[in-house]
Amino acid sequence: MPTFAAIDIGSNSCRLKIASVQMHRLKTLHEDREVTRLGESVFQTGVISPEAMASTIRALKRFHKAVQLHVADKVRVVATSAMRDARNAAAFTEWVKATTGWNVEVISGLEEGHLIHLGVVTHEVGARGRCLLIDLGGGSCEVTLSDGGRIKSMVSMPLGAVRLREEFLRSDPPAKEDVARLKQFIDRELKRAEKKLGTPRVGLVIATSGTASALAEASGHVRKGRATNKTLAKKRLERVGALTADTPDVRRLADRLAKMNNSEREGVPGIGPRRSEIIVGGSLVYASLLERMGLKGFRYSPLGLRDGMLAQMLAEVD
Ligand code: G4P
Repeated sequence: MPTFAAIDIGSNSCRLKIASVQMHRLKTLHEDREVTRLGESVFQTGVISPEAMASTIRALKRFHKAVQLHVADKVRVVATSAMRDARNAAAFTEWVKATTGWNVEVISGLEEGHLIHLGVVTHEVGARGRCLLIDLGGGSCEVTLSDGGRIKSMVSMPLGAVRLREEFLRSDPPAKEDVARLKQFIDRELKRAEKKLGTPRVGLVIATSGTASALAEASGHVRKGRATNKTLAKKRLERVGALTADTPDVRRLADRLAKMNNSEREGVPGIGPRRSEIIVGGSLVYASLLERMGLKGFRYSPLGLRDGMLAQMLAEVD
């Protein structure tokens, strides 16, 4: 019964999933997550700050204990957008190696998109048909058109939530002219994406990662005009098997959030305290992307990069 561990060092958070192979399928044994904002300093200065390095190492030490406890046979550690950009990425990977013995692979945006695709199409209902996958993380946003379980086309754009906050939205509440500059930047990137993806005619849009989760939950409250909390939304997710968002609700919410200060955003049901700091840029990307591509909305999936890494490890032993 081989056991695998997948670790994703993202620009916003670090995540761990440990799973064992049972009857040729993966069974999750343990998950962990820590918001370490590796991208914050990188998108400001081009280098990872000592504080961000130290907090990421602290999280990785905790993950290391869990990996040892579960006696994982195989461990894969990947890093994404912030590490692709950081001039001092090598110093960080050496520190990780010295502390945990792990080799960190810095993967490209397209490789990231491939792994997310693999993780989602392996497990999500309907994802083997024609669908669009959107993953907006801390540093980048990957959009993938998939058909019959295969990738038709993919783009990776520098539209991650932490990156956009650092590059455009430094004041609180965001200045009107900064929001306007950001919207122009998003439009430019989306125009380039459309050249590659065209106008994807899809019935199913699946969105992954924290921004999508927060938007799906918060936009539901905007529509219904009532407040619930994360626990209630989780129950709803378990009951119907999906947490969804409609495009007009996402636009309404994005425009509202862009006018609020951080403590007001924190008060919006469905948006957590750390997410409120970075939600404005991410929500404006989702609103424009959904509108420009003529999509009705999206369904949130809790799957992602780690699930793709685990699926790949499973395929290698099967
Ligand atoms: P990111 O760095 O890729 O942006 O995402 P992060 O790992 O922080 O979060 C992924 C997860 O998105 C989901 O966890 C979900 O709980 C969560 N999430 C993060 N921020 C918010 C928020 O402000 N509001 C809501 N509603 N959800 C948020 P998950 O994979 O579903 O598992 P679990 O942690 O809930 O167990």
